[in-house]
Amino acid sequence: MKIIYAKTAADASKKTAELLISEVKNNPKIVFGFPTGGTPVPTYKLLAEDYKKNKTDWSKITIFNLDEYVGLDKSNNQSYYYYMKHNVYDPLKLSETQTFIPKGTGDYLAYAEKYDDLIKEHGGIDVQLITLGRNGHIAYNEPPADFKSLTRLIKLTENTIEANSRFFNSKDEVPKEAISMGIQSIMNAKKIILLVIGSNKFNALKAIIDGKVNKNIPCTILLKHDNLVIVADEDAISKNKSSK
Ligand code: PGA
Repeated sequence: MKIIYAKTAADASKKTAELLISEVKNNPKIVFGFPTGGTPVPTYKLLAEDYKKNKTDWSKITIFNLDEYVGLDKSNNQSYYYYMKHNVYDPLKLSETQTFIPKGTGDYLAYAEKYDDLIKEHGGIDVQLITLGRNGHIAYNEPPADFKSLTRLIKLTENTIEANSRFFNSKDEVPKEAISMGIQSIMNAKKIILLVIGSNKFNALKAIIDGKVNKNIPCTILLKHDNLVIVADEDAISKNKSSK
């Protein structure tokens, strides 16, 4: 495990964007796994800026997304498809054939079942970017974790519904279920970059750094991955922050 310490959230985002851009330059046909959520937004903005300025070639890459809410279709502005289209697909001019995301409506269960095979058909994920939930979830793999899990239907915990309610008008509007890649799906990636920003992720990150795998803190399974890079800002690391 390699840890890259960043002073601020902006520094962590910049470092992560640099890592991703250098991965694309090294392997123009790279297969990425990408997350949604608040944490990677500034990183995605930096990718878009780099694309405009330096014309980094994303035309042959592929992206698989970690998860999607059940019940929200693509046009819903809280769906993860919508998030990806606005933050990543459109700014990097990616085509529909380059991007994959679990479905949240229609034949979403059947699509979830074949999602891991789709990843395999594309040669597997070369670099998986992930973030942490406050409760240590990765994607929507809530505690207690099933370390052998593949992409499937998940019931979100109260903790996660509460955390996500900041993006909705009220907590009642937050979907209660999602389709999520499993822990095994994530661990199958050849390399994992974990981006951790903010003091509310302190406990989850500390559990990893402490070095003990515990199914009640799903992210601790990452200790078993042999190519893990953690990028974390000072708020996520420092014990001296008040709101940890
Ligand atoms: P956040 O969510 O980036 O919005 O904090 C991460 C997560 O819950 O996995």
